[in-house]
Amino acid sequence: MDLTMVELNRPLGERLWFPFTYEEAGLGFNDRWWYNSPVYPDSKSLFLRVLQNNIEVARVHLDNEVAIDHYADVPPLGATALEIQLVEVHNDHRGRGIGRTVVSLLHNRYPDRRLVAFSEGADGFWSSLGWRRHLHADPEEASSFRPLFIQPEA
Ligand SMILES: CC(C)(COP(=O)(O)OP(=O)(O)OC[C@H]1O[C@@H](n2cnc3c(N)ncnc32)[C@H](O)[C@@H]1OP(=O)(O)O)[C@@H](O)C(=O)NCCC(=O)NCCS
Repeated sequence: MDLTMVELNRPLGERLWFPFTYEEAGLGFNDRWWYNSPVYPDSKSLFLRVLQNNIEVARVHLDNEVAIDHYADVPPLGATALEIQLVEVHNDHRGRGIGRTVVSLLHNRYPDRRLVAFSEGADGFWSSLGWRRHLHADPEEASSFRPLFIQPEA
């Protein structure tokens, strides 16, 4: 599958940055996820568009800093952990292997990192990739926290 990832860059001198613009709202992505707040200069986030034949088929929001130690049985990833904070495949393009391919491209792009994701109701997707599911270390808290999925060691 021929997908291209394009990282979005903050325009020089722009303090409050919206990586995705309001003009693009209503075009097949969840507007609440992509237009809700500006990104400040000290942010550890990265944003990518995923294109197929020049058409945007997915979006990714990564976070360079993520805490996972409050979950049970997690490996000591430290700063190697890279969070997929959000991945969304365009509504019209789901179920065709794009999500799986995007994760594989992220793995190739950041070979020294271990990808992690807090599942937003997509446990089946992360499990299908062979990622391990972790719950909060305190069983009484587990139902209030999203399950954490960790990419297997390469
Ligand atoms: C979850 C999402 C990224 C998956 O992308 P996709 O391109 O539709 O998924 P793929 O076609 O690559 O599917 C890969 C596997 O995941 C499974 N899968 C995909 N979405 C799933 C879901 N929501 N629940 C359960 N399984 C799912 C597929 O059945 C497939 O399994 P298989 O390889 O055993 O056949 C996409 O459906 C999406 O954008 N959903 C809305 C946003 C979202 O939930 N993002 C995740 C936030 S943590």
